[in-house]
Amino acid sequence: MPPSALVFDSGVGAISIAREIRALLPGLTLHFGIDNGFYPYGTRSEEALRPRIVAQARRMMAATAADILVVGCNTASTLALPQLREVLAQPVVGVVPAIKPAAAATRSRTIALVATEGTVNRNYTRDLIEQFADGNRVINVPAPELVRLAEAKLRGETITADDLEPVLARIFHTAGGDRVDIAVLACTHFPLLRDELDRYAPRPIQWLDSGAAIARRVRWWLDELQLALPDTPGPSQLLTSAPDTDGRIQQAFAEFAPSPATTT
Ligand code: DGL
Repeated sequence: MPPSALVFDSGVGAISIAREIRALLPGLTLHFGIDNGFYPYGTRSEEALRPRIVAQARRMMAATAADILVVGCNTASTLALPQLREVLAQPVVGVVPAIKPAAAATRSRTIALVATEGTVNRNYTRDLIEQFADGNRVINVPAPELVRLAEAKLRGETITADDLEPVLARIFHTAGGDRVDIAVLACTHFPLLRDELDRYAPRPIQWLDSGAAIARRVRWWLDELQLALPDTPGPSQLLTSAPDTDGRIQQAFAEFAPSPATTT
């Protein structure tokens, strides 16, 4: 079997991460583990979410026999990385908010952290800010509606200025918002809306996510495991935790040409 990674998320956020991995490592076979039965993660309690993530990711890793687990979800990573590493024999790469690179790049010393409610309120995220924000101001922007809008976009809907206005107001029209020069997109659904965020923002800023860093980390692990990649990847498997009744998940992931969704 060619080397493979399983990209895990509650929904289409896995796509923003998978695109970065595919661009850097075109020969790596990508499988998708989508916990649609528990979507959205961002508003779930930590007590409910942690065991759920571990159980689903574990089952999906076993079903695909992937070499690496990529947690393509900030809400899941900031909650369950240690537990996942404990139960899995394979390396676990987890996406976490890009606070450190944002702190290094901001000139106005003001960063917006745009994420799910779960990620914004997490101790993990607070620690990350404390350790890496380097004294820069961080404005927390919970944006659960962007998760829904990203799902809608991937299903063919058009996202309008009115759709984004409430989130943009929370970034720009809040205390210190006039100084924001970088917004950290700390939910993997959000880079899927980068074009729209750029288009409708009141002024240009940088929208920063962790996708490229995750892809580099996956490459590091492939080297470490001494797994050489073929020129072209093998077929992708698409696993869902609840049936993809209307075929929309299948459709959203079409660019990776996965096998018909299998419910685990
Ligand atoms: N894509 C997930 C993340 O990165 C969250 C989406 C959800 O709320 O389910 O945080």
